[in-house]
Amino acid sequence: MTEIIGVVGAGYVGATTAAGFAHLGYRVGVVDTDPRKVHGISTGHSGLAEPGLDEMIDAAVRAEMLTASEHYETLAEATIVFVCVPTPMRSDGAADLTFIDAAIGGLRPTLGPGNIVVLKSTVPVGTGDAVDEAVRDLGVHVVNNPEFLREGHTVRDFLNPDRVVVGGEAEPAGRVAALYRDVGAPTSCVDRCSAELAKYACNSFLALKLSFVDELASLAERIGADIDEVTDIMGRDSRIGREFLRPGPGWGGSCFPKDIRALASIAEAVGLPMRTVTAAIDANEAQSERIVDIVVDTVGVDGHVAVWGLTFKAGTADLRESPALKIVGALRKEGMRVSAHDPTVTDRFALSARLPVEFTPESARMPSFDILADPSSIVPGTDAIVVTTEWEVYRSVDWSAVAHRSPRAFVFDTRGVVDARAVRAAGLRFRRIGVAES
Ligand code: UDX
Repeated sequence: MTEIIGVVGAGYVGATTAAGFAHLGYRVGVVDTDPRKVHGISTGHSGLAEPGLDEMIDAAVRAEMLTASEHYETLAEATIVFVCVPTPMRSDGAADLTFIDAAIGGLRPTLGPGNIVVLKSTVPVGTGDAVDEAVRDLGVHVVNNPEFLREGHTVRDFLNPDRVVVGGEAEPAGRVAALYRDVGAPTSCVDRCSAELAKYACNSFLALKLSFVDELASLAERIGADIDEVTDIMGRDSRIGREFLRPGPGWGGSCFPKDIRALASIAEAVGLPMRTVTAAIDANEAQSERIVDIVVDTVGVDGHVAVWGLTFKAGTADLRESPALKIVGALRKEGMRVSAHDPTVTDRFALSARLPVEFTPESARMPSFDILADPSSIVPGTDAIVVTTEWEVYRSVDWSAVAHRSPRAFVFDTRGVVDARAVRAAGLRFRRIGVAES
């Protein structure tokens, strides 16, 4: 049977899933409540800075393999519908399923016997069973198909996944797994509960690995080791692997902080607190605080600091849970004047619209912060420069121009991307995460 695919939600997971399946030859309908997203998809662009995604969407729309609408009725012909809506974190760390419930409610009139609802969103263990119960009267199956898409790599990760995970009864799970046949990746067809837990486990373990490396970097600085040498040796052990061993100002984004807290909350709820998980969360909070302490200890609270990099990682415009914003907020709370640069930020008003309210330039009584058009247009007399996101532009800065404007500047590289020799040749003080201060 040729499946017809529906997708609810046109964010970076939904848009990539829709475009990806259209690219694999399936007819796909997307539904989103945001008319701007619907218009974007219909005119061939996602509005997301995902390499290859707009080209894939544009080709699919032109081939009439991909349509977008605000109306669930347009999914009436779909035989398999992927739910790709946000599951934000509640204040108690548990996942908020409001959008999941709204999607299932919207889908109900379009579903019929033999259809499959696929939960692609990251959902608490047990959600698949609950949704299965809610739509069983319609003769509809429910399976989990968790996404493993990194921002900035979603198209590549969709078409070249390490594995495809499908959780549910054999027949519907087999039909969903078959959609990915041309992707050629190993497929794990398991029970729903295991598929749901595996997703939290993957993100939480990656975060735990990073918290370990971030703490190891602090130790290396203190005892005179070089973290890059240490992690190179670690990564050569195939059981450890070379990925996710770069220390930084802490991990952030829309997934790791949410998913690791959700896992801690799930474990707590059944009376089995996971100490490794809560330790990783605590270590991550301490990491950005340590960066702030080093800056304050080095230049004092009367200093002016330039923070280079605001997004939670390079290759995305996403500021959600970015450690750089925590560092900006903490420096401003110390009373320090802060200026900021990021390649995805053009002006402070555009930035304000993307910032959590506690970090907007106008918020609170803290000194506001300025936006730098480019790194070298640094405010004269800046006392410290902190590189907090590994954007390519910070690898080739004109440090003599920087030194001319700020001869006293202390340069602190928390991502290991700055050319230390060039900084020192310009007569500036330099410190790099994971290496003892010279
Ligand atoms: C993550 C998971 O990788 C992905 O599988 C899941 O589906 C969604 O969440 P993403 O949130 O896009 O993807 O970010 P990722 O690339 O995993 O990085 C997460 C954080 O770890 C970022 O803050 C990044 O800067 C940090 N990081 C990553 C490091 O500090 N060092 C590293 O070596 C790698």
